[in-house]
Amino acid sequence: MRSLPAGVVAYDDVGSGPCLVLLHGFPLDRTIWRPQVRALASRARVVVPDLPGFGNSSGANHPASGPMSIDGLADTVLALLDALDIERAVVAGLSMGGYIALAGARRFPERIAALGLLNTRMEADDDAARRRRSQLIDAVGRDGVEAIVTAMLPGLIGKSSRRRLPTLADDVAARMRATPPATIIDGLLALRDRPDATGTVRTLAVPTVLLTGDEDVLTPPEVLARIAATLPADLPRRHCVVPACGHLSSLERPAAVTLALIELLELADRPVSRPVS
Ligand code: MLT
Repeated sequence: MRSLPAGVVAYDDVGSGPCLVLLHGFPLDRTIWRPQVRALASRARVVVPDLPGFGNSSGANHPASGPMSIDGLADTVLALLDALDIERAVVAGLSMGGYIALAGARRFPERIAALGLLNTRMEADDDAARRRRSQLIDAVGRDGVEAIVTAMLPGLIGKSSRRRLPTLADDVAARMRATPPATIIDGLLALRDRPDATGTVRTLAVPTVLLTGDEDVLTPPEVLARIAATLPADLPRRHCVVPACGHLSSLERPAAVTLALIELLELADRPVSRPVS
């Protein structure tokens, strides 16, 4: 029997058909994809990990290969594909999950059938963003998890969703508070030091779906438009800007995100079948 990659304790693996891997954002967990898992299990084998340190994988250590990094998290996803005997998968990530998906497209392109980039960006942090990450690392070290809730929560949910879904902010805050401070600090370092993925986007060779919300203040439509303008011109793609939606699109506009993922599955060049055991 193959064992799970270091640090991954919890994941969903439901449904059958082409494999769809969904990667969560920071500092959250796999439950941000719950509506999509429910809706897509009849069309795809949906694999959704809690990345090492997050969600129910929070008690686990990070991979022994060193400090948390976006490339290291991508390699964890690869190890999970290996452990589950998945040869090729459609991979979609939201925000940090998108950075990881892009790192995967650079590190193991042969394992990725199509790419979903939701509420994310291709550029590395600039100097000002790196400084803000460093200040936040100090604040979390000093004040604990509450510092990240205060700093990030206002930007995560769009203004329309705050009105329409009045309990969502508390729900998201609870998910953030469940993340250990050590994971938050390691994650901020990984985000701050992540590589620029512009070159990866320029040479992508798999169908791609881009999605953000028109009220996303962290990755607004112009950020996704830059990805669209960088993709090879002949690449099959869809580009959605979801109305009345902020950064946490999978929770704010679950049906629109599910639809985009269905389009992604349809665009994927070939399905991955489960091995016959
Ligand atoms: C996320 O939602 O994963 C974060 O906003 C990513 C980031 O801060 O760069």
